[in-house]
Amino acid sequence: MTAQDFILESYNSNIEKGKVKWSSPSNIALIKYWGKREHQIPENPSISFTLSNCKTITEVTYTKKANKDFSFDVYFEGEKNEAFKPKIQTFFERIESYMPFLRDYHFKIETSNTFPHSSGIASSASGMSALALCLMSLERSLSLTEMTNLYFNKKASFLARLGSGSACRSIEGELVVWGQNESTESSDLYGIKFDDDVHANFKNYQDTILLVDKGEKQVSSTVGHKLMFGHPFAKERFSQAHNNLAKLKTILALGDLDAFIKIVESEALTLHAMMMTSMPYFILMKPNTLSIINRIWQYRNETNSKVCFTLDAGANVHVLYPENEKDNILQFIKNDLATYCQNEHFITDYVGKGAQLIEI
Ligand code: DP6
Repeated sequence: MTAQDFILESYNSNIEKGKVKWSSPSNIALIKYWGKREHQIPENPSISFTLSNCKTITEVTYTKKANKDFSFDVYFEGEKNEAFKPKIQTFFERIESYMPFLRDYHFKIETSNTFPHSSGIASSASGMSALALCLMSLERSLSLTEMTNLYFNKKASFLARLGSGSACRSIEGELVVWGQNESTESSDLYGIKFDDDVHANFKNYQDTILLVDKGEKQVSSTVGHKLMFGHPFAKERFSQAHNNLAKLKTILALGDLDAFIKIVESEALTLHAMMMTSMPYFILMKPNTLSIINRIWQYRNETNSKVCFTLDAGANVHVLYPENEKDNILQFIKNDLATYCQNEHFITDYVGKGAQLIEI
């Protein structure tokens, strides 16, 4: 499909008002998206586990209006929020050619997260995907023809990508691939559910997020992506991601946990290595991030555990492990790792099936 296929040509203009509510999860990348071109096109393919507990719940109330300006109010956790408005304004501008009805309505956007706001967990993936899904439900109501679920999900992912790249991987579960590559069915324009064989070892995989630093990041992802332009190692990095995805596909089918660990940890460290070798360079890991990584390696050496870590663009650590190790690893986290977290705070999560319509 091309971007043209997502343009809504004509629609029913008689719908005066309505309301829709979606919940959409966060996701954690195993192969990282880092570097993008114009229009949110990724420089390399990525794949992620969709999460279950960490999600955004968004309700959109729409009311027909006369003027043709964008009009919306945002409420975050019950309070009117001005800080989110510029990002949503930009999002509306990016998607308006695909959703010509956007200027016909005033939108009341009420949103909340299941995870604490100041946890350092990126809410852009869950937030942008939840909003994209609400707008898609409105489009479905206005549509003059029957819309398939396949098209609904693709366009929701396409729109979410224009809000925040990684958000396009939050519509479905349990694994989602985004970005053209030789190994899987995929697109640069939207995420696709990874439908190849996945071994039972990876079913219900666990992700406990250790909140090392709940503060605002010094460098945003958007700035970080830009620094991949002219980066001395960019070309190698992008081709490495392609190779890693090909390898991971086989690993997922075979259930090879040792090989999984190697790819996933190497991807996390490479992401941060790219930050450290950008110009200007920066470091998002904190001393406690490194302490946790070392403790995980030590624990793995001492036991037969298949626990591993990944990182997103911040200091927090995602601890990944198979379901059958749940009790042991939670004990390890409580006894050993929680001490490296701010206020000993961590969030337990696991792989999920994607966004859910709550109300229409
Ligand atoms: C390190 O999706 O937050 O989490 O497209 O600029 O909104 P924008 O960036 P964003 O970048 C996420 C980067 C990452 C890796 C990943 O999720 O693949």
